[in-house]
Amino acid sequence: MDVLPPQMSAKDEGSFAYFTMKNRAPQILIKVINTLQQHKNEFFEKLGEVGTEAEKKLLSLLSKLLNELQTDEPLLPLTDNWVDTDIWNQYLKYHHSLLNETNKKISWFQSPWLYVECYMYRRIHEALMLSSPISDLDVFKEPKEQNFLESQEAIRILCSYLQGLNKIENLDENQLKDEFFKLLQISLWGNKCDLSLSGGQSSSQTSSPLTVLEDLKPFILVNNMDYLWLLLINRKKMRQETFSVTRVDFVLDNAGFELVTDLVMADFLLASKLATEIHFHGKSIPWYVSDTNKNDINWVIEQLKAANTKCMSECGINWEDYFKKHSWVYHDHMFWTLPYEYCAMSQVAPDLYAELQKSNLILFKGDLNYRKLVGDRKWGFTVPFHQALNGFHPAPLCSIRTVKAEVQVGLAPGQGEQVAVTDPQWMNTGKYGIFQFDGHFDLA
Ligand code: F6P
Ligand code: MG
Repeated sequence: MDVLPPQMSAKDEGSFAYFTMKNRAPQILIKVINTLQQHKNEFFEKLGEVGTEAEKKLLSLLSKLLNELQTDEPLLPLTDNWVDTDIWNQYLKYHHSLLNETNKKISWFQSPWLYVECYMYRRIHEALMLSSPISDLDVFKEPKEQNFLESQEAIRILCSYLQGLNKIENLDENQLKDEFFKLLQISLWGNKCDLSLSGGQSSSQTSSPLTVLEDLKPFILVNNMDYLWLLLINRKKMRQETFSVTRVDFVLDNAGFELVTDLVMADFLLASKLATEIHFHGKSIPWYVSDTNKNDINWVIEQLKAANTKCMSECGINWEDYFKKHSWVYHDHMFWTLPYEYCAMSQVAPDLYAELQKSNLILFKGDLNYRKLVGDRKWGFTVPFHQALNGFHPAPLCSIRTVKAEVQVGLAPGQGEQVAVTDPQWMNTGKYGIFQFDGHFDLA
């Protein structure tokens, strides 16, 4: 087997990994600390003295974490007692076993970026676990909800568009394909709205998500939308004779506006019969500021149901119903919040791998999922996606991602270099997007 390229690391000064650990990560922690301080009376009001003490404990653990990060201290074993604690500690031991003379410590600026960045969010969870009775607190709830509320107009436009498509049976195949492509692109650009890139500052969708699509097309660097269409339309045509179901899985990314774009896409897939069941995979703990967990989905559905605008409340009612009737299914699994690249899934989480094997198409949303798909490694731009997946092939899959980290494969020769000439920051801004597919589809 060929030697794999090294993983990105903050030890490369000038890299986005370095910038993230030096600036963005501390900024995120400081924002959490400040928010907790602003809300300190609420802990007392809800829980009395115990609440105040728990909040103090949480603040001191988070301040300690911030200090360890800023002074490049060695990573410490976790001391809480959650389902994945042993796995994290074994992972740390494994990294220790790899140390050699030139690489002396497992620390924030010396070890793989993917590992240390995930570790920061896991340490926030540890701090919460050790601060009972406020362990259930989602420290990122406020910015996630704010993103949704500030994107109201864009959400209303999307819901109204979706409701307008309800005569979907009358669309011919070309019209259906156009709508499918439109909603896919909305879901792609929805990924611009993640809150960790902006350090937790507002990053909502304020313009109409539909009118901007044409202008954004030149920024799609890899466009495999056709493959997705062929896969789904061919299954739909053959379903009567050959297939009874078509299952599409969304490995979700951010809550707020992006989540709504994904739910709209999922609704369309069912209504158009391009899919018959949809499975969503979310995070079980607060993650990368804006990542979606079960509470975020419930909250969005409740907000929509309660909206004054009919198209929004209808979406809320329908979506709740899909979950009740199990045509939409929500899953979470601790693997999604471990630091592993996805090629390790079949070993580390064989149950999750087996679940994904039941899918006919897995859509991986966002930048972090892409980094994990390709191992966060320093691949050349033209390395084929299939090769970078390094054996991870549970089912046909597609990354739908705006580019925010310095890793990209599957480009045409010279393509990456050319974009870099006009836009040196192209890999860190979320301005460019990809639909990158790996798998088989039947050409009817
Ligand atoms: O901080 C690392 C990173 O992957 C960034 O590149 C990106 O800003 C963020 O995390 C997460 O992005 P997404 O929500 O698209 O996964
Ligand atoms: Mg995210």
